[in-house]
Amino acid sequence: MYRTHDCGELRLVDVGREVTLAGWVQSLRKFGSISFVDLRDRYGITQLLLGEALNEKLALNPLGREFVIQATGIVSERSNKNQQIPTGEIEIKVGQFTILNKSATPPFTIQDDTDGGEDLRMKFRYLDLRRNTIKKNLELRYAVNRAARNYLGEHRFIEIETPFLIRSTPEGARDFVVPSRMNPGQFYALPQSPQTFKQLLMVSGYDRYYQVVKCFRDEDLRADRQPEFTQIDCEMSFVEQEDILSMFEGLIKFIFKEVKNIEYTVEVERMSWDDAMWNYGNDKPDIRFGMKIANIKSPLKRKGAQEAEGLLIGKAGFTIFDQAETVLAIAVPGGAAWTRKQFDAVTDWVKRPQIGMLGLVYIRFQEDGTIKSSVDKYYNEERLKSIAVFCNAKKGEAILLLAGREERTRKAISELRLWIGEQLGLRKPDEFKLLWVVDFPLFEYNAEDNRWLARHHPFTAPKPDQIPLMINNDPTIPDPEEFMQHPYADIKANAYDMVLNGNEIGGGSIRIYQRELQEKMFDALGMSREEANYKFGFLMSAFEYGAPPHGGIAFGFDRLCALLSGSESIRDFIAFPKNNSGRDVMLDAPSSIDRKQLDELSIEIKN
Ligand code: AMO
Repeated sequence: MYRTHDCGELRLVDVGREVTLAGWVQSLRKFGSISFVDLRDRYGITQLLLGEALNEKLALNPLGREFVIQATGIVSERSNKNQQIPTGEIEIKVGQFTILNKSATPPFTIQDDTDGGEDLRMKFRYLDLRRNTIKKNLELRYAVNRAARNYLGEHRFIEIETPFLIRSTPEGARDFVVPSRMNPGQFYALPQSPQTFKQLLMVSGYDRYYQVVKCFRDEDLRADRQPEFTQIDCEMSFVEQEDILSMFEGLIKFIFKEVKNIEYTVEVERMSWDDAMWNYGNDKPDIRFGMKIANIKSPLKRKGAQEAEGLLIGKAGFTIFDQAETVLAIAVPGGAAWTRKQFDAVTDWVKRPQIGMLGLVYIRFQEDGTIKSSVDKYYNEERLKSIAVFCNAKKGEAILLLAGREERTRKAISELRLWIGEQLGLRKPDEFKLLWVVDFPLFEYNAEDNRWLARHHPFTAPKPDQIPLMINNDPTIPDPEEFMQHPYADIKANAYDMVLNGNEIGGGSIRIYQRELQEKMFDALGMSREEANYKFGFLMSAFEYGAPPHGGIAFGFDRLCALLSGSESIRDFIAFPKNNSGRDVMLDAPSSIDRKQLDELSIEIKN
C-alpha cells in the first residue's frame, strides 16, 4: 500500500495517528537542522516535517521540486497554523521517507499563478495539468458530464455511439479527412457532428438518444472554438419545438443546480432572431444588461418599426448620415460625463480594422437636460433631443451613433455594446442569463455564388406554415441586389439556439422527415439530384421506411463548462487542447509521415 491517506484529508482530529502519504514535492524549506516539505497530490497539500535524523539522509539524497516521494509519520498539531488550506492545522512528523521518483526541474512553477507562458505550458501540458486551476476546471467538466448523463438517463435517453470514420456531414466547416489504405484514393471524413446518424437512429426507433461525443471541424480558431470539441448531442422522436425547448431547458437548469448550486427557477426567456438582430445586432445577445440598439435608419424590413429616419435627413446637411445605408445608436449610462478624451478613445476603438467604422458621433444628454453633441453644426438642440427621445436615452447618458453599410454597422454597434458593457462592469462572470433564440431564417444568402445556403444545416425543417413558400417558389435569385425581396428570405426555420451570457451554447432544430421535402431542400440549396443522392442517398432512402417526426439539439460541452466558470476560453477546460494554429505543441502534431506510409496510402505529396 503506497498511502493510507491523501494529501488533502488530514485534520486536527487525526493528531497522533501514524499515516503514510505519497505525492509530489511542491516546495522544500530548510530551517537549520530541520526541513519542511509541502507534499501535493490531486486532493491537496500536506506539510511534512523532516527532523534532524532525516536531514542527514536528505544531504545524501537531496529532494527537488516535483520529486515523487512516500513518507510515513505521525500527524501532529502545527504551532504555526496556515488557515489558507484545509490541512493547515496539522503536519506530519516524518519517521521515514522514500524517493519514488526524481524529477527534472520543471520549466515553470506548478502554482495557480504560474510563471509559464501559454506555449510553454502547452508543451508541458502534463505539468500544467498538475496546477490547481486546471484541475478545478477538469473536475467541473466531469461534474457537468455526470449531471448531464444523470438527467438524460432519468428521462429515458440512451447513449449510443456513432462512428468517426464517415462521409462528410454538412455543418458548414471544412472536413478533416482520413485516407483509406484498403481503398486507395478514397477518404473518410471525420464527423463535424453525428447529425445524420442521430436522425437514422430516430428512423430505427430509438426515440431518445444522446451522446457525449467528439466533433471535428477544420475552421478558423478562436477562444471559443477548437478543431476537435465535444458536444452533448441529443435527438428525440414524436416531438415539436416546444417539447425540445422544455426538455433541454430542464437539462441546463439541472446542470446549474448540480454543478453550481444555482436555482434557475424562472422560465428561460425567448427572443426571435429578428428581434435579436434588431435590438442587439447579433444572434446571441448578452441580456445581462440593456443598452439596446436604436434603429434610426436601416434597410431591414421590420413590421411596426418606428420610422426615425426623418430625425436625421432633411435640411441638416450632415452627409455621413444622409448617405449612410444604416444609422444605429446606443445610449450609455454615465456617458454624458465622459471627457473628450474618453470619447476619442471610443472613437479609436470603433476605427480599428476589426470593427472597421470610419468614425463615431456622440450626443451628450446632460443631467441638466441640455444637449451637446459632436454634430451641433448640423442639428439643432430640438432635433438632437428628438434623437435622444427616440433612443430612449435618459439624462446623464451619452448616445453613441455609428453609420455605414447595414451589415458592418450592425456588427460594429453590437461589438461596441459588448465592449462598453464590459468596461462598465455589466457583464458579470458570476451572473447567468439564459436565452432561447428562435425563429431563425431557414436560408442565408451567399453573395459570392448568388445562391441560398442552409443557415443551420440542410436537415432543418421550415416552420410548417411556411412550407408552401418553399415548395411553390423557384430558388433562383434574378437580381442579387434584390435578394431580400425573394420569398426565401422570409422563410423561418423550426430552429433554436440556446445562448448563455452572449455565447451560443447549443443549437438544434426540428428536422425534415419526408423524402420529398428533403429533396426540395437540396434543390433550394442548388444541389443537383445526383449530388444529393450521392451525398445523402442513405438518409433519403431511410426516410422511405417510416421516419418519425423528430428533432434535437447539441450543446457545446467545452463552452458550457468554460462559461459556468465565468470564462470564454475553452482551452483551459480541455485536457489536451490545440493551439490557435490547430497544433498540439506537446505531440508536435500534425506532422509529416514517412514515405512508406504514404505509399501504403497511395498518396503523393505535391512539392
Ligand atoms: P452546431 O453546429 O450549432 O449544431 O453545434 C452545436 C454547438 O457546438 C458548439 N460548437 C463548438 N464548440 C467548440 N468548438 C467548435 N469549433 C464548435 N463548433 C460548435 C457550440 C454550438 O452551439 N448537428 C447540429 C446540432 C443539431 O442540429 O442537433 C450541430 O452540430 O456551442
